[in-house]
Amino acid sequence: MSAYSGVLEAQKTFRRAFGYTPTHVVKAPARLELLGNHTDYNEGLVLSLAVDRYLYIAASPRNDGRIELFSAAFPEQREKFWISEFTKNPAAPWTDYVKGVLAALRKRRVHFAGFNAAVFSEIPVGAGLGSSGALEVATAIMLRELYPFRLGLGGAISPPRRDSRGRLPRLTPKEKLFLAQACGEAETEFVGVKCGLLDQISSLCGKEFHAMQIDFKHLTVEWLPLIGELAVVVCDSGVQHAHATGHYNARRFWCDAAAKVLRAKSLRSVEPRQLAAQKSKLREREHGCAYHVVGENQRVVFAGRALDEGDLVQLGQYLFQSHESSRDFFQNSCAELDLLVELARAHPGCLGARLTGGGFGGATINLVAWNDAEDFMKRIAAGFEAATGKKLAPMRCRIVDGAG
Ligand code: GLA
Repeated sequence: MSAYSGVLEAQKTFRRAFGYTPTHVVKAPARLELLGNHTDYNEGLVLSLAVDRYLYIAASPRNDGRIELFSAAFPEQREKFWISEFTKNPAAPWTDYVKGVLAALRKRRVHFAGFNAAVFSEIPVGAGLGSSGALEVATAIMLRELYPFRLGLGGAISPPRRDSRGRLPRLTPKEKLFLAQACGEAETEFVGVKCGLLDQISSLCGKEFHAMQIDFKHLTVEWLPLIGELAVVVCDSGVQHAHATGHYNARRFWCDAAAKVLRAKSLRSVEPRQLAAQKSKLREREHGCAYHVVGENQRVVFAGRALDEGDLVQLGQYLFQSHESSRDFFQNSCAELDLLVELARAHPGCLGARLTGGGFGGATINLVAWNDAEDFMKRIAAGFEAATGKKLAPMRCRIVDGAG
């Protein structure tokens, strides 16, 4: 879907829900984790991309102190509440991400009145493309459009001015990071998933034709050109992951426990040799998780070099290695994801493939030689259907700019 028709769909969704035309439409892109799995909350390194599947929010301010939310994906889960009342609603769980962002911004002394908002999304939910991160980011961007604010280190600072055509200045890289932190807090504090900031930073800081190399210890982003005769293909296994159910938090618990035993502030400062030497001190799952994370950090560094040298074949090898490490050590793969990676590996045009995002279901990311992409998508869909009886609709993605 083109960006333009996405905007129209969002406007249509708003009109259907509220009966009039919205004043604003904003969007935030999906993100793809290229390499660096479960490293973000371990102060580690990630390579990621923002890609051309968007979540849109159409919105209008209102002045009675009420907020009303509607989503095209969950029309029966409509929600209305006061601007001073952010409570979780198990009957409309998608709205918790919006409320979490509002609560985090309020805590930073951002002032806002009420609004109506309607969500229309092209990002499949539970497929590992960061749909909740995009919802959080779009919420923050929408609020900024309605009630302009600027975040600094200690919270809200003097708000930005609109130009003569009513447009706000673009967000600076620093502002994007502050915003990402507020959005991340929505998930960790409000929703209760102890995730890192990968999804939020990627959706905000993406750059066309580039991969982001994010350092979660120093909270910095560098952009490395990712160009060449290459297609990025995503295969959604159709297995829904549900991070909030505990698998995700359990992995984080084991990582933290391993770092503690190793007397490290985080797994970022653990060297492979140190881990090998102290293996006997760790319980099996602690070691498995630490081994994965330490290896992923290394692979991201090496993959950055491969990108610098334009060596996409080597880059692809790191993707395969990452998947094996997820499958065998971190244990966040599943039969369908393993099958997708094996089918990809068997295709001569595939440079690399691995699960992307949290895991336990969701999608794989595949780097495929440009000229082979059509054939790759056809063959992998046929192979997946033959083995599982389930349909697969591979998506070709374009790397795009982030939100705001
Ligand atoms: C999910 C989380 C991210 C990150 C990835 C795994 O997408 O939201 O913070 O931890 O899983 O790398």
